[in-house]
Amino acid sequence: MQKEQWGSRVGFILAAVGSAIGLGNIWRFPYQAFDNGGGAFLIPYFIALITAGIPIIIMEFSMGHKMKGGAPLTFAKMNRKFEWLGWWQALISFVIASYYVVIIGWAINYFFFSFTLAWSGEPVNFFVGEFLGLTDGPFQLGGMNWSIVATVVVAWLVSFVALYAGVKNGIERANKIFMPLLIFMLLIILVRGLTLPGAADGLEMLFRPDFSQIMDAGVWVAAYGQIFFTLSIAFAIMITYSSYLPDDADIVNNGFMTALLNSGFSIVAGIAVFSIVGYLMNQAGGELPDNLSGVFLAFATIPAAINQLPTMSVLVGLLFFLALTFAGLSSFISINEVVVRSLSDKLNAPRKKVVIWYTVIAGVISLIYTTGGGLYILDIADYFINQFGVAISGLAEVIIIGYMFKLADVREHANATSDFQVGGWWNFMIKIVTPIVLGISVIQNFINNFTENYGGYATMQVILLGWLVAALAVIIGIAISRAKWSDESMLSE
Ligand code: PHE
Repeated sequence: MQKEQWGSRVGFILAAVGSAIGLGNIWRFPYQAFDNGGGAFLIPYFIALITAGIPIIIMEFSMGHKMKGGAPLTFAKMNRKFEWLGWWQALISFVIASYYVVIIGWAINYFFFSFTLAWSGEPVNFFVGEFLGLTDGPFQLGGMNWSIVATVVVAWLVSFVALYAGVKNGIERANKIFMPLLIFMLLIILVRGLTLPGAADGLEMLFRPDFSQIMDAGVWVAAYGQIFFTLSIAFAIMITYSSYLPDDADIVNNGFMTALLNSGFSIVAGIAVFSIVGYLMNQAGGELPDNLSGVFLAFATIPAAINQLPTMSVLVGLLFFLALTFAGLSSFISINEVVVRSLSDKLNAPRKKVVIWYTVIAGVISLIYTTGGGLYILDIADYFINQFGVAISGLAEVIIIGYMFKLADVREHANATSDFQVGGWWNFMIKIVTPIVLGISVIQNFINNFTENYGGYATMQVILLGWLVAALAVIIGIAISRAKWSDESMLSE
């Protein structure tokens, strides 16, 4: 039986914030904001935070804390019928882990490239050509890219060491190292960014609300998607982490703190990135740079800006890519912990043994993304697992917990140990607002994807790498949930 616990309250908060703050904040948040009209994005973003993010994080903390299990065990203890949902979410985390690690790997490579500004005058060509060796499509794998394989192995090793050492001695300790350093580095980048000519223009893009875009449903779908991704909710992660809380932990407060620290970090990272882009614009005589979207923002546009910095260019490069690496690693550890904990609960197997097997198997799978076709596969898998896996499993989660259980019990459990209490608004968000918004998002996503293939990919490509991957997560989840628990007595504890 798991007797692991966080060593301190700060330890838990750092770990939860460490999970939340990740590539989602530095790499994804700024480009989501660019893609969705800059200032138009922030209003839906904060509404999503209040209506879905904070209520769900409190709900997941309360469930994990009460049931003291990984996500499948937690759902199974609430009702054996719903164990599949825990596995589904754990498998979504597994899919994400397999590509997330590769982006961390790129960041580590780019950290080293920063010493010589190796991307030279052509960062886009460097990234897709020399660095990734990008092929013509996802089914053309090309060779494995050994410099990426090497850094991916490094990232797996860090995760392995942290998970193997356990919750307090491994995960908590890793976060105590990564988080303070990360914040320190971000602040230096922020100051550098803000003192560049043109920074103000960049910030205006981020903060000036554009009301014409706010009516666009796509912006709302993106904002809710971003909140789920960035807060690590509906991924089984927060349930798992809160299962290691001591009995008297303050759920509501921890939930608010995690959510607010995470969004605060995103905004600061957004300010840093937008001010650097503002500088680039300024250098180009006011023209908006290309490649502000997706992976290109961090791996092509930021390097382009670094090239042009008047001073400290190497330092900014090092700090930016190290920040990306640290933010990514602490989240990566949490995503892996989900699967490790789920398996060791179900098989009643020693954690260390599961960590070894998991790391080897997941590590091998992740190598697919280090090939020349890797970026395409990553792009498709990332889109589908988030738009369909997370959104639908999140929808299932709020409906199941909201309507098939006494939601009041979950709330009372959260309130029992908390300084300030959540009231009726919370029920309203979980039962009404979140299901409606997620329901609309899901329908909208189906319509979009039936009318047009995502990203202009061929139908076979999106079927095999997108739809199939997203569907397998739920199908395999259901299959695993049917298997017996090695120690059935766990369910009634
Ligand atoms: N929340 C983290 C991030 O924003 C990690 C994470 C990503 C967790 C995706 C779950 C899913 O990067």
